[in-house]
Amino acid sequence: MIKRTDYLTRTYGKPEGWSLRAYEANEANEANEGGLGGYQVARRVLTGMTREQVVDEAKKANIRGRGGAGFPMGVKWSFMPKTVGAKPHYLVVNADEGEPGTHKDRTLMELNPHACVEGCIIACYGIGAHIAYIYVRDELHLSKARLEAAILEARAKGYLGDTPFGKDWPIEVHVHSGAGAYICGEETSMLNSIEGRRGEPRMKPPFPANAGVFGCPTTVNNLETIAAVPTAFGMGAEAFSKLSILHGIGDGGVRLYGVNGHVKKGVVVELAVGPTLNELIYDIGGGVQGDRGVLCVIPGGSSTPVLRPEETVNAPDERLPLHPWHGKSVFDVPLGVDTMRGVGTMLGTCCVTVIAQGTDPVWCMQNLMQFYRHESCGQCTPCREGSAWLERTTSKVLDGKASIGELHDLHDIANGIMGNTICAFGEGTAMPALAFIQKFRAEFEQYVRGERKRADATLTVEPWS
Ligand SMILES: Cc1cc2nc3c(=O)[nH]c(=O)nc-3n(C[C@H](O)[C@H](O)[C@H](O)COP(=O)(O)O)c2cc1C
Ligand code: SF4
Repeated sequence: MIKRTDYLTRTYGKPEGWSLRAYEANEANEANEGGLGGYQVARRVLTGMTREQVVDEAKKANIRGRGGAGFPMGVKWSFMPKTVGAKPHYLVVNADEGEPGTHKDRTLMELNPHACVEGCIIACYGIGAHIAYIYVRDELHLSKARLEAAILEARAKGYLGDTPFGKDWPIEVHVHSGAGAYICGEETSMLNSIEGRRGEPRMKPPFPANAGVFGCPTTVNNLETIAAVPTAFGMGAEAFSKLSILHGIGDGGVRLYGVNGHVKKGVVVELAVGPTLNELIYDIGGGVQGDRGVLCVIPGGSSTPVLRPEETVNAPDERLPLHPWHGKSVFDVPLGVDTMRGVGTMLGTCCVTVIAQGTDPVWCMQNLMQFYRHESCGQCTPCREGSAWLERTTSKVLDGKASIGELHDLHDIANGIMGNTICAFGEGTAMPALAFIQKFRAEFEQYVRGERKRADATLTVEPWS
């Protein structure tokens, strides 16, 4: 069931909602539902809680990382060394947002930048850091300008600086521009980029909590993950978590859901965790353009395997978390990190791309593979060569020049990438490829038999309605 909320988006649409004045005005209308506004949460945390208490509270919020992998935020914070030794600790906030179909962090930076800064203050204190870098791709000029203005306002008020809120715990937040490469959103690539090196992923281990930016302990979190922190701490982490219908399986709170592609209304909205795909497509997105049916959706950024509405949940055992939806369409399952894993895909960035009936799935795959081929950093042979090979072979299918054997090759190439690369870009390429080949086998074969032609294929829906 859809539950609209406005904890993260309260300032959206307000006159100069991005200013400190607007952010502090939140204080007045709290009635404790959204906790305290206007940096009062950061003040309370820094002056009233120990670092250990902050990390414990963060765990209770059940905020699953909003950047794609869904790792629990509080657990990640707990990986940082308990005491700050010779090496300083850092917070790196990932606002690269390069995932196709994803445009949620940008709205926060532009329309509620102070929540991002306040989240940085609380997170820095919790993980033992004095400096946060917010990594924003350069072309997001307005996002950077709004963040920088918010940082100046917060510094002028003494919320940042040597003694924020009178606490002897210096905190500074810096905006760091990235040149705009998809791979720089991968956390270790981003760390290299911040250091002024080439944006290529690093081997793990060591993990960032041990050796991150400048070789120092670092927590990397997505921008929305951090922006949710003031709300969670303001209302109490458990109360925040319980807003979600998936609180019981450790997926708490509210988050930004996006819907784009062939819907009538592409939007980013704030909802309690747990709407279904059908609700997003029809109640939020206004239905499919041209009132067509849905061919498939990409649930959370292009790296997540497609789902078709005909797919049903197979969870006959009552002990399985997905049992309540056994036999139902996967489009009726609440969208959460583990529920989407349970149906064989990923929630990812939670921004759904809807693909209408009539669209050509083979062309969809070729379009995606073009992107991955272009964005591979080239360090690993299976990814560099495999992404190009996938793209070439799918193009050949579209041109009617591929054999059935080459359809088998597509499986082999994708499977050859999986698990054989330095970073998850490899899986992000192979998994959607495998899903398209497996779920649209009939259409791939039609091309091989000459029953489909590239000239008739389309990626758009017309007439627009
Ligand atoms: C190729 C690739 C691109 C990524 N791009 C982004 C991105 O643009 N933004 C983001 O927050 N995370 C991105 N990630 C995930 C990050 O590596 C990292 O897991 C995330 O920033 C951690 O934050 P979270 O735990 O708060 O989600 C990407 C991962 C990969 C493999
Ligand atoms: S998997 Fe691809 S993007 Fe990641 S390090 Fe290897 S070549 Fe680069």
